[in-house]
Amino acid sequence: MLVIKFDTDMLKFIDKCMKKDNYLVLLLAGDGNRLKKDIDEKKQFHLILNKPLFLYPLISFIKSNAFKKYLLVISKSDEELVKKNLQDNRIDTKDIIFIYGGKTRNESVKNAISYLTDKANDDDKIFIHDSARAIISIKTIYKLVDAINKNDFITSAFPIYDSIILKDKLEYINRDNCYRVSTPQAFSLDVIKKCYEKYDDKATDDYSKAIKLEGNYKTDIVNIPSISFKVTTIDDLIMLESIIKNNKEYQI
Ligand code: CTP
Ligand code: MG
Repeated sequence: MLVIKFDTDMLKFIDKCMKKDNYLVLLLAGDGNRLKKDIDEKKQFHLILNKPLFLYPLISFIKSNAFKKYLLVISKSDEELVKKNLQDNRIDTKDIIFIYGGKTRNESVKNAISYLTDKANDDDKIFIHDSARAIISIKTIYKLVDAINKNDFITSAFPIYDSIILKDKLEYINRDNCYRVSTPQAFSLDVIKKCYEKYDDKATDDYSKAIKLEGNYKTDIVNIPSISFKVTTIDDLIMLESIIKNNKEYQI
């Protein structure tokens, strides 16, 4: 018989994942305006190897087995399409909750947080992810679960390998001190609730709100592989399609 031995830290970590006090908010209520001239459907529904793009991140999060519920933030007009896609791909919808999004990303997240306010506990962890970031490995998800368990809020980020210039000042800045901010971002429910009570702005992400909160919070910026890039333009989409077609590990 094969006996696998884990060290104490690993056992504690697996236990934490299995307790499943993590909720996923997966955003798919955008219009994909910047890709509209190039593809017929919204980018989250664009088919890659016959599967809609949003299923790639969703299936990774489901496979991680670290989440209690999955909140899919959708446009009302896409509800049937999303449900059909889930059914066609035999995704168990028992733990999936559908939330209608708003006009902006900010409003979409706010609707999900309002739903969670009286459903989850203040110290439960809320992961927020752009569905347009299709590839997210289970290893990365575990790294983030581990990080949020040690902090009040965290963001994913990519290191920068290009030189960075401020165009108005014609001044280079030290790239070693810069990151590209990505999702998933994760927050204790009480923290993300405070963010939306205090800063109901048009920010393009949520970590930018959390770092403005006053208080003794612990946070971290977690380095993740830039393969979780966001599909925004046709070049991104072509790159994503090519990566998925050529790498079995990213196929679903
Ligand atoms: N999003 C959302 N609700 C909105 C706007 C955006 O849920 N009202 C989601 C998108 O579906 C996407 C993520 O937020 O997964 C990041 O947004 P972005 O890349 O800007 O997507 P879109 O807003 O759809 O694209 P565009 O800005 O080109 O219109
Ligand atoms: Mg947008």
